[in-house]
Amino acid sequence: MLINNAGISGGFPQDTHSTSIATIRQVFDTNFFGTIQVTQAFIDLLRKSPEPRIVNVTSGLASLTLHNDPSWQYYKVKGAAYGPSKTALNAYTVVLAYELKDTAFKVNVVDPGYTATDFNHHSGPRNVTDAAADVVKFAVLDADGPSGMFYSVDNNPETGVSPW
Ligand SMILES: NC(=O)c1ccc[n+]([C@@H]2O[C@H](COP(=O)([O-])OP(=O)(O)OC[C@H]3O[C@@H](n4cnc5c(N)ncnc54)[C@H](OP(=O)(O)O)[C@@H]3O)[C@@H](O)[C@H]2O)c1
Repeated sequence: MLINNAGISGGFPQDTHSTSIATIRQVFDTNFFGTIQVTQAFIDLLRKSPEPRIVNVTSGLASLTLHNDPSWQYYKVKGAAYGPSKTALNAYTVVLAYELKDTAFKVNVVDPGYTATDFNHHSGPRNVTDAAADVVKFAVLDADGPSGMFYSVDNNPETGVSPW
């Protein structure tokens, strides 16, 4: 299994007119290109597993659908670097899952939810144990588990399936 968890925010606020290209590049380098690089490095090794699993850790803030919904709890949490980097990661994961759809691979993006970590100066309401359990669940899916999906308990507490 491969869990691509590394991520940075680039700091907030991130308005579109003053967030530097350098900051946006740095965030994409870690959250998007870094994940692709690690996936490409490990894919041949994963192919040797009878149950290969890839979990790309995304964010609820990646959802373009919800960013256009004024009733969404995070509607005002916009940013020029972080959310877009995770939206791009989601798009890459859709392509990866498509390419691997006729194999034993399961490939998903999973949002750990707003969790108290160094990332947000421990402001999140979720604890790391619960957040990690949500992520690991998709790294140990059995053969009839989903692939090519976006899971976020923050975005959908009932089924966990988030709109893209
Ligand atoms: N916390 C939340 O509320 C929340 C919500 C949604 C999504 N997420 C996502 O969850 C993931 C984990 O975040 P977290 O909350 O655990 O944040 P965190 O406490 O800041 O941890 C981030 C981790 O990523 C590693 N990392 C950062 N840049 C890296 C790089 N260029 N190369 C290798 N490793 C790098 C860090 O390693 P070092 O310690 O060595 O720097 C650290 O282990 C991220 O992808 C984040 O976007 C978090």
